[in-house]
Amino acid sequence: MITVAGSLNIDLVTEAERFPLPGETILGSGFSTVFGGKGANQAVAASRLGSEVKMVGRVGNDLYGESYVAHLTKEKIDVSDVKPVTHLPTGTASIVVAEQDNQIIVVAGANSEVTPAYVKDAMNELEKGILLVQLEIPDDAVEQAMKAAKEKGWIVILNPAPFKPLPALWWQLADYVTPNEHEAAALRKENDFLEVYNEKLIITRGSEGASFFENGKEVHIPAPKVHPVDTTGAGDTFNGGLAAFLDQGFELREAVEKAVKAASISITSLGAQSAMPTIEQLGDSHA
Ligand code: ATP
Ligand code: RIB
Repeated sequence: MITVAGSLNIDLVTEAERFPLPGETILGSGFSTVFGGKGANQAVAASRLGSEVKMVGRVGNDLYGESYVAHLTKEKIDVSDVKPVTHLPTGTASIVVAEQDNQIIVVAGANSEVTPAYVKDAMNELEKGILLVQLEIPDDAVEQAMKAAKEKGWIVILNPAPFKPLPALWWQLADYVTPNEHEAAALRKENDFLEVYNEKLIITRGSEGASFFENGKEVHIPAPKVHPVDTTGAGDTFNGGLAAFLDQGFELREAVEKAVKAASISITSLGAQSAMPTIEQLGDSHA
């Protein structure tokens, strides 16, 4: 069983040939409204890849929130702890996709109401599993979720995105910390990052795949070649996949290999969740 404590956003995605400069207006080529948010994206990835998933988060008491809960239910995710907030809207992410890259502005909205008490209450009944957290909910809730999971003896995966410096305690609470290359470089600049935490690091490297440490040596797992359409949610698919495959009993190396493959498939169409593969599609894929 995987518990994801994290964000749910509605992604407002604009496609354009290039990014506008500050103060400039340009014409875009497409617009869509899709489900996103790092927490929910990772929950959907893990569920499609065959694990039982519970989402702990908050939406607004609005149409976006209502449709998001219905969507997660269709994705076979336990939404009993995705409760609406009355005074804030569902979180949003304004995304521009251009030049095979993206720019994103997140407005937290209801995600800011994921409090330590809310998380503690939601995790109270659960017996065993894996916790997956990111940094789009308040820091004190992230910490509470990790503490509660550690007390129960769960595996804790911390995806440090969007990047912020990590308190030393979080390194101790996490079993795995999963930055992308840029986040990993920034983490290494922190004063309280110790080499001793290398063994907890799993670094995603875009088209180069991912790497992790084994007996003091960095092991590289290459990514299959695909045609990238939209990389939004690639990291989320990797994290959801990693959690799912560890949950299903695979060794770390195999879990990373499968998560890399799933993430590479996920970038082949527009939107964070649209191309996330199911476990069957992963098996059939020649990516
Ligand atoms: P994002 O923020 O866009 O969701 P990220 O920066 O968190 O992504 P990345 O390291 O870019 O994460 O990518 C995560 C995984 O997605 C990689 O390990 C790889 O499996 C896959 N991936 C990303 N970009 C490519 C690419 N161009 N070709 C093949 N696979 C890719
Ligand atoms: O990681 C991708 C996600 O980041 C998007 O879905 C967007 O909602 C932002 O949270």
